Amino acid sequence: MKREIEVFPDHAALALAAAERVTAWCSEAIAQRGVCRMALTGGESPKPLYALLARPPFAERLDWSRMQIFWGDERCVPPDDERSNYRLAWENLLNRVPIAAEQIHRVRGELPPADAAEQYEVELRACRMTPAGTLDIILLGMGADGHTASLFPSKDRFADRAQVKRNRTETSQTVSQADALHERERWVVAQPAKMPPLVPRVTLTPLAINAARHILFLVTGEQKAKRVAQVLAGPYQPDELPAQAIIPQHGDLHWFLDHPAASQL
Ligand code: 6PG
Repeated sequence: MKREIEVFPDHAALALAAAERVTAWCSEAIAQRGVCRMALTGGESPKPLYALLARPPFAERLDWSRMQIFWGDERCVPPDDERSNYRLAWENLLNRVPIAAEQIHRVRGELPPADAAEQYEVELRACRMTPAGTLDIILLGMGADGHTASLFPSKDRFADRAQVKRNRTETSQTVSQADALHERERWVVAQPAKMPPLVPRVTLTPLAINAARHILFLVTGEQKAKRVAQVLAGPYQPDELPAQAIIPQHGDLHWFLDHPAASQL
């Protein structure tokens, strides 16, 4: 597995490098296969990257007519809700570039979580071109607890199952954190949230994420420094540190960190 860790002085420098890298990957995918399928992430970390991709010179370098846009995870809220990952990407990027509605494959966060997960999986599988290839690019963030996408830590599997039982009434048919991390068939599952916003989530499983060609983590801020060091340099314990479960099968893995996030490495 090819893993690259790059450290940048600040969030702005990280976003600029990410914009360069992402546009290069998109162009390569389009040149080689005629299409680029990219999954976006939520949270604060990608905002400066989205802003850069939305304007020159990056917006003009990309052939938006060949892009297909997906999400790594979504909060179960309507698309116009301010907590929606779709809304974040729409307002900061998609609304500002020449892309058609049919190129945007959002998770239907307004549906019951299990239905939204099922529909999204069907949509993803319908877009797949080859048995081996799914997404060309997946952008990911990491929380201070080591979660990524909506794959949350589950210290104690037994306790986790009990919690999921309680959550089931609230979130209808989510699967446990441990089960999501070790899923062997489904590409998409519904999850109870462990962090704010405390709404159910729909997330790609590691099975789907790890099939991607390029996986790029964007992580900033000192509050994540300890976890970054544990994930990148500590023992392998993906149930506690779900970001460690991201190990591309054939593709490459990139961690873009700012100095504060890398300060304990
Ligand atoms: C979400 C995510 C989540 C996020 C991390 C980091 O929907 O919240 O996709 O995995 O990427 O929590 O979030 P920040 O970038 O805001 O720190």
